[in-house]
Amino acid sequence: MNPILAPSLLSADFGRLAEELAALEAAGLSWVHLDIMDGHFVPNLTFGPPVVARLRPTTQLFFDVHLMVEHPERLIPAFADAGANLLCVHAEACVHLERTLQAIHDAGMQAGLAFNPATPLHWLDYLLESLDLVLIMSVNPGFGGQRFLPLARRKIQDAAARIRATGRAIHLQVDGGVCLENAGELVALGATVLVSGSAFFAHPPYAQRLAAFRQAMTP
Ligand code: DX5
Ligand code: ZN
Repeated sequence: MNPILAPSLLSADFGRLAEELAALEAAGLSWVHLDIMDGHFVPNLTFGPPVVARLRPTTQLFFDVHLMVEHPERLIPAFADAGANLLCVHAEACVHLERTLQAIHDAGMQAGLAFNPATPLHWLDYLLESLDLVLIMSVNPGFGGQRFLPLARRKIQDAAARIRATGRAIHLQVDGGVCLENAGELVALGATVLVSGSAFFAHPPYAQRLAAFRQAMTP
């Protein structure tokens, strides 16, 4: 399976979101990463289901929605209606995590589980088989353009080993500080989906940037 690049819309031009999505699709991307922040779980605010719903009919891109919000279970129906393909919740934000993952699947979406840099992976002990994606945060979430935290390396390897042991095709996503310089190493450690915000959008044209990432991600 070829590694996937998921540009984070957080670094796109928020005044031209539909055009940005069209440009990503034209450049050959298949996924886009949508960062939803509530100003509580993280100290920043972005956008919510109404914006996603308006963007949905403009593109075929896979909507990979990263919920950095408290009580994410409350937003499951709204994001399903808005056309999210995958909903990723934070382990730190969920009390009844099994129920939340079940509700995401029942609503017809794929389910992801995200881990802040300091959060241990033991949440996966009994839940990994219920997931379509594991997200390892390699920065403390809230903002684009932060530096990759080295502690994420061992965690990616640990998550990759756990996923391999299931024998299932569960994605391993890395988000935060991903750039051309570390993309190859992250794939070698076991990542299958790399999120990139600032290191992608600051360097148009997007087709050229995608080609550069693809080359960097190829072992
Ligand atoms: C951070 C977000 C990321 C962010 C990544 O809280 O979850 O998706 O956009 O941005 P870069 O690639 O600039 O670190
Ligand atoms: Zn994200």
